[in-house]
Amino acid sequence: MNKHQAPINLAVLHTNTRHDSGPKHVTGTAEYIDDMAEPVGTMHAYLGLSTKPHAEIVGMDFSAVLAAPGVIGVLTNEDVPGVLDISSAHMHDEPVFADGVVHFWGQPVLAVVAETRDQAKRATHLVKIEYKELPFFTDVRSAQAAGGKLVTPPLKLERGDVKAGLAGAPRRAKGAITIGGQDHFYLEGQIALAVPGEDEDVTLYSSTQHPSEIQLIVAQALGIRHNAVTVNVRRMGGGFGGKETQGNLFAVVAALAAKKWNRACKIRPDRDDDMSATGKRHDFVVDYDVGYDETGKIHAVDAVYGARAGYSSDLSGPVTDRALFHCDNAYWYPAVRARSEPLYTNTVSNTAFRGFGGPQGMVGAERWIEDIAYALGKDPLDIRKANFYGTDTDNVTPYHQVVEDNIIHRIVDELEASSDYQARRKAIVEFNKNSAILKKGISLTPVKFGISFTATWYNQAGALVHVYKDGSIHLSHGGTEMGQGLYIKVAQVVADAFGVNLDTVKIMATSTGKVPNTSATAASSGSDLNGMAAYDACRQIKERLVVHAAKLHQVEESACEWVQGGIQAGPKFVTFGELAASAYMNRVQLSAAGFYKTPKIHWDRATGRGHPFYYFSYGASVSEVTIDTLTGEYTVDRVDILHDVGKSLNPAIDLGQVEGAFVQGMGWLTTEELVWDAKGQLRTHAPSTYKIPLASDVPPVFNVKLAEWSVNKEPTIGRSKAVGEPPFMLAMSVPEALSMAVASVADYAIAPQLDMPVTPERVLIGVERLKKEARG
Ligand code: MTE
Ligand code: HPA
Ligand code: MOS
Repeated sequence: MNKHQAPINLAVLHTNTRHDSGPKHVTGTAEYIDDMAEPVGTMHAYLGLSTKPHAEIVGMDFSAVLAAPGVIGVLTNEDVPGVLDISSAHMHDEPVFADGVVHFWGQPVLAVVAETRDQAKRATHLVKIEYKELPFFTDVRSAQAAGGKLVTPPLKLERGDVKAGLAGAPRRAKGAITIGGQDHFYLEGQIALAVPGEDEDVTLYSSTQHPSEIQLIVAQALGIRHNAVTVNVRRMGGGFGGKETQGNLFAVVAALAAKKWNRACKIRPDRDDDMSATGKRHDFVVDYDVGYDETGKIHAVDAVYGARAGYSSDLSGPVTDRALFHCDNAYWYPAVRARSEPLYTNTVSNTAFRGFGGPQGMVGAERWIEDIAYALGKDPLDIRKANFYGTDTDNVTPYHQVVEDNIIHRIVDELEASSDYQARRKAIVEFNKNSAILKKGISLTPVKFGISFTATWYNQAGALVHVYKDGSIHLSHGGTEMGQGLYIKVAQVVADAFGVNLDTVKIMATSTGKVPNTSATAASSGSDLNGMAAYDACRQIKERLVVHAAKLHQVEESACEWVQGGIQAGPKFVTFGELAASAYMNRVQLSAAGFYKTPKIHWDRATGRGHPFYYFSYGASVSEVTIDTLTGEYTVDRVDILHDVGKSLNPAIDLGQVEGAFVQGMGWLTTEELVWDAKGQLRTHAPSTYKIPLASDVPPVFNVKLAEWSVNKEPTIGRSKAVGEPPFMLAMSVPEALSMAVASVADYAIAPQLDMPVTPERVLIGVERLKKEARG
């Protein structure tokens, strides 16, 4: 018996199923682009980066570059036959290379193409560039001071009478919080391999979350039609938003070289150059004015969200929009006005990063909750609860969407009990009274995150399913795999739909040649969209097979039932394999293209009103920390999480997503700090200066649970919910717990107002400030 015809027994949907590439990841056999056998004659490109933050390029001399060993040539903007724009926003503000003016330190100014990567890289240092320096600024405050030029139009969300709400409130919380950016630090860096074909054709292997965008950008730059460009992506070694648009540059450079010299070309920057030349999470400064009362209830919020957008638009529009969409986190504001400022700065153009601006918006909300709590001498958790969205009333968001699926009360109540929050908080307050140097803190923070692309048209997906004569299945869809487990989830959907074993389904690399016009795998919507599109393809094939089975066995179609392993056609059981073979002989089509678009959603940016999110995902976490008040150093001692993924398609994968997201979020809010120096140079472009969390930073006690009772109210695939981004924001309880530990030195009477990331330095500075203020 062929092992692929083994007896079928297991349900595959909603089960713990291991990542299809898990064994290959850990044995090093999963193939990434740099592992692929290179076509004969492959050339290597390397970027030359600017050494000024803002300057006119007066002259460039390549003679030494061209004379260097192995160099085939250089690429500049003059080599772009088509449109000189790699902007995902299509705003024509992002040339391939700096176009006469460099706007940030690290901006690509040319590429050198050579026989080996080492030769190309060495030769980039031989280019002589004459610059005329221009004034520059790199951060939000200096951008605002310089006039606040924006890279893309701002957004305003408004509901209720903010002026009256503020004026009538008995108390006010006013201030500003600085929230740092974050480098994606995907393990596999940016990379592209372009292989020239006949005529205008070019095939790309790109580490991208958005193959269709790579196709468009390459076609546009080469001045050819989309149908001449094929983009293939088997997997990424992490994307985290950093490969939603940032692969464009590398793909275009590889494609330009491949067509110019009619040889394959690969480009892979090293880590320092990757970190210098590609966009990151946006830093924000949130200025706020909040009115509230003695019970801690918020009356009105007025806030401005200044963001370091970098030199061009990229995704700064939708990112700053999403910050505003999450200025409420899980809280109801009777009156609210939120405004975004996507500011031009002389830094790399910032981009998507897990949460897509949402985390920054939510950190702002937690700041004023904390201000209110310390001003009133209460546990911040009480203030949080006092302001949660209601279920039937007090449930309208700042963008006028009604929250219809609120489960935050149950999530928080269950976590508060299971983590023993109240007793632990009491014990910590006692501990702090008796401990002179070490102080502890604990915090419970909620998460509510909106699911759907706010660009409504992005919420569509396609899939292509083939059944072969032996009953084996070929699965393609528009989503990309970056480690998050999308491929296995969609394969589970297909295996479940046909009632076959999971190993009957062959997962194919994503290709623009298989499924066209796809969206980025982003906004956590990969399985919602592609799972449904694949299901639609399966449904079509199943319908044809039922008609066929009924005919074959001379029963009514209604007497045919899909069961595990095949179809029960009246008294006769036909295996899926037999069905496929006989369908072929009877000329029944065994292939289908599926399609899905998210229902219900709409959004009018001009009026700031609509229903941009199909549903919300919820969660909460409790963190406990210990700080050393002499050094500022701290440990995260225990974390408890309860997170909502609806009815999970794969609890094992989802738990991994929750754990990974929490740790990545914790890195953002504690140790990962981007530093630009007075010369406008990014100083933190390697792990030696930029500290991401290590395995040893995972909390020693880490109790992570999915809310098993949760079922998506909307008819999503298997009633599941998106999981990719929302748990990132669970990490907010870490800085909030640090805040409590710091506040303990002044008897919890002064709000610590720590900026993010809360590094040990910031803890120490906070401790010193509060001690001083407490002394008067
Ligand atoms: N998980 C892993 N392992 N690697 C990643 O790059 N990206 C995150 C999240 N989880 C990422 C990840 C981001 S930013 C998003 S939007 C989602 O995965 C995208 O995948 P999904 O829509 O299939 O969840
Ligand atoms: N999230 C992530 N990526 C995006 C979005 C979004 O809302 N819109 C466009 N790209
Ligand atoms: Mo995720 S930031 O939407 O790629």
